Amino acid sequence: MASPTPVSQSQSILGKTHIKIHIAQTSFIPTSLRNPSFGSTFFPRRCSVQFKTPRGIVKMPLKAVIVSATTAEKPKKRYPGEAKGFVEEMRFVAMKLHTRDQAKEGEKEVKEPQEQSVAKWEPTVDGYLKFLVDSKLVYDTLEGIVEKAPFSSYAEFRNTGLERSVKLAKDLEWFKEQGHTIPEPSSPGVTYAQYLKELAEEDPQAFLCHFYNIYFAHTAGGRMIGKKVAEKILNNKELEFYKWDGDLSQILQSVREKLNKVAESWTREEKNHCLEETEKSFKFSGEILRLVLS
Ligand code: HEM
Repeated sequence: MASPTPVSQSQSILGKTHIKIHIAQTSFIPTSLRNPSFGSTFFPRRCSVQFKTPRGIVKMPLKAVIVSATTAEKPKKRYPGEAKGFVEEMRFVAMKLHTRDQAKEGEKEVKEPQEQSVAKWEPTVDGYLKFLVDSKLVYDTLEGIVEKAPFSSYAEFRNTGLERSVKLAKDLEWFKEQGHTIPEPSSPGVTYAQYLKELAEEDPQAFLCHFYNIYFAHTAGGRMIGKKVAEKILNNKELEFYKWDGDLSQILQSVREKLNKVAESWTREEKNHCLEETEKSFKFSGEILRLVLS
């Protein structure tokens, strides 16, 4: 960077007599400021510019003039949620894919039985068992993938506290003790697990979209479902599937931070690719959810 040059209290810039730059205190200003390209980000703190307009002299802080000039030249497109981090972008896309019956931010119309309000559901124990078995296959798969970590970024997501596999194994054991037969995994779970395995090896952005949606959906809508179904068919028995060790909001915050960090290295195209995968996540999870009503 050019070495700072002392300037006097008021000095013309750009060779135009109607624009004057004021430096509040005798200070240093980089030589680049005397160059119309404004190549440096170093400016004295209290620096202003005067414009002669038909209404008189208008004085603006130099920083504001430069910021607005840059913004006018190249408006930066913002994505919903972008300012808060990439997880907020994923959340924004996911919330829109809910129906109004599912969540108040939802925008989709109800087309499938599981997209109706959970209060209207008529679950069966056999259907719920199928849902738990297929969910376990999906969580076993996710947890196996992050353990193996075919991409090093997945290793961040080992032992986050969100894991559900062990909890679901305990629940299935409980059902067995109650005299129920545990079914084999069915097509929705097998198909989703296979898809996740393939994706994990070749497309980390799309894979992490599923990772986010599966774990976070379960802590939100999933918990609502668990409570309603327990009321209707399990005599209010609270399953392990809906219990986390430690403070859930802290666990979620820590996983959000990790996801945001990983996504910081992604290009805008990679981020968009991840967001576009959300719809598939809803489709696959929707098929598994539907088992509750079978
Ligand atoms: C019956 C089905 C569902 C219901 C009733 C439901 C309901 C909800 C509700 C009430 C919220 C919380 C909204 C808030 O923060 O105010 C939520 C959040 C969310 N849901 Fe769903 N949802 C369902 C299915 C799904 C599915 C299939 C997915 C995707 C696989 C999904 C993904 C998400 C995500 C990612 C969030 C954000 C969680 C967070 O901010 O921590 N949901 N859902």
